[in-house]
Order: sequence, then C-alpha cells, then structure tokens
Amino acid sequence: MPQLTLPKNSQVTEGKSFPAPAGATRLRKVKVYRYDPDSGANPRIDTYEVAVDRSTPMVLDVLIRIKNEVDPTLTFRRSCREGICGSCAMNIDGKNTLACTKACDEIAGDIAIYPLPHLPVVKDLVPDLTHFYAQYAAIEPWIKTQSPAPAKERLQSKADREKLDGLYECILCACCSTSCPSYWWNSERYPGPAILLQAYRWIVDSRDEATGERLEALEDPYKVFRCHTIMNCADTCPKGLNPALAIAETKKLILHRGH
Ligand code: SF4
Ligand code: SF4
Ligand code: FES
Repeated sequence: MPQLTLPKNSQVTEGKSFPAPAGATRLRKVKVYRYDPDSGANPRIDTYEVAVDRSTPMVLDVLIRIKNEVDPTLTFRRSCREGICGSCAMNIDGKNTLACTKACDEIAGDIAIYPLPHLPVVKDLVPDLTHFYAQYAAIEPWIKTQSPAPAKERLQSKADREKLDGLYECILCACCSTSCPSYWWNSERYPGPAILLQAYRWIVDSRDEATGERLEALEDPYKVFRCHTIMNCADTCPKGLNPALAIAETKKLILHRGH
C-alpha cells in the first residue's frame, strides 16, 4: 500500500502568535514556516502581526523587522537586497521568488512565507542547497579550451555575445528548479532547469571549445529529456528568464548533432 499521508513528525502544526505592539497601525499578518531539526519538534507556522509601512516595502524588509524587533530566532538567508545574490529565495504567497524584490503591496491578505519547496530544511526558511551546488559544479561552469591562449584575450563578436543574453543574468537562486515537478521527483539524477540553463550558457558561448563534450554529457533520459515543458520554471523565475527555452534549444542541438 502506498503511504498517502505525511509521517507524523513532518506535519506542520499551528505555532506561536506574536500580536502587534499597542498602538501599531497598518498591520499585516505574516505567517512564517518555522523548523528547527535539532529540537525534535514538528515544523510549525508562527503568526506575526507586523506594521508594514514605507520603511518595509519588500517582504525581506518585513522579515528583517520581525527578526530585529520581535523574534531574533527567525532564520533566513539574505545578502544583497538587490535581486542579485539569489540568497533570499523562498516561497512567498504560494510562489517561489526573491524576498527582496517581492513587494508587500503585491500580496492580498496574509503574507505566507515558506522555504523553497522539496529541499531539506536546515532551519526555518533556509534550505540545504548542497546537492544543487554539486549539480552546478558537475556541468563544469567555466570556459574550456584546447587552442593556445591568445596574447591578450579570447575575443567574441557582438552577435556571439548576444547569444548569452537571457542566460548570463541567472543568479542561481533555485526558484525554478524547486518549482519543477521533474526536479521534485528526480532531483538525484535530473539537474533541473537552473543547472540546465547554466549548461546551455556554456554550450552557446563562442569561446568555449568543449561543446560536443558538454552535449554528450546531457544526452541521457534523466538529463535534458526529463524536462516535459511544464513551464513552471519560466513562470516563477524572478529574473524573467526562460530555462525551458534553453532546455528546448539544448535538446535541438543534441538531436541535430547525430553521431
Ligand atoms: S533561471 Fe531564474 S529562477 Fe532559475 S536559478 Fe536562474 S535566476 Fe533563479
Ligand atoms: S519546463 Fe522543464 S524544467 Fe521547466 S518546470 Fe517544466 S519540466 Fe521543469
Ligand atoms: S538578498 Fe540578494 S537576491 Fe535577495
């Protein structure tokens, strides 16, 4: 018999409530997933009543306010607050995105915040990205050459440089991979949309001389061909990129390459 319910220790329970201080205005209810594996307790949803005003326009600002003023135990990652480092990726209002670029005004009702789905949780909103980074390293994300290095630099035409548009902007936030059903079920073997977009970025780089080797490495039922063009990845990418398109282009190159 398949097990259709979650094991008891993974069921999310109702957590603590932190009411707003007296006299606070412009209140929003912020419901945050909390989990501390060391405690042995089930994950829970804590509810914070927070004043959301001009000094907290983005969801990340609200999390920082909660941590600074209400509950210092709340754990999350962030660095740049500019949508560049990718470290504040989480699931907000039902969608994977960056907390620092998601405006509170875009969310109607309570603000629900969970970690990126389908990854082990280190604590609260911090997922374990070890496997994701190992998958990134496996595509060898650097220019590989055999020809002797020129005296100055490896030049690229303007047209060839433009082929990297829509690819180089990827910040490896993992929003796309953790929204991809193929990745949910096969992440041990399927690299997922983020890593496949990155792989394509090196495949189409005119300066790289390992194109054949790179395509060969992706020709496997559990690599590009595990993508079923469900498009969750393009729908969720906070940088407006389209990993599904990069995967489709890679499939074409593999199929046209022949043997
Ligand atoms: S493609 Fe978009 S969602 Fe995916 S890792 Fe890159 S920036 Fe993040
Ligand atoms: S299009 Fe492919 S990579 Fe993107 S979400 Fe769907 S299956 Fe995953
Ligand atoms: S803090 Fe760097 S992307 Fe949000």
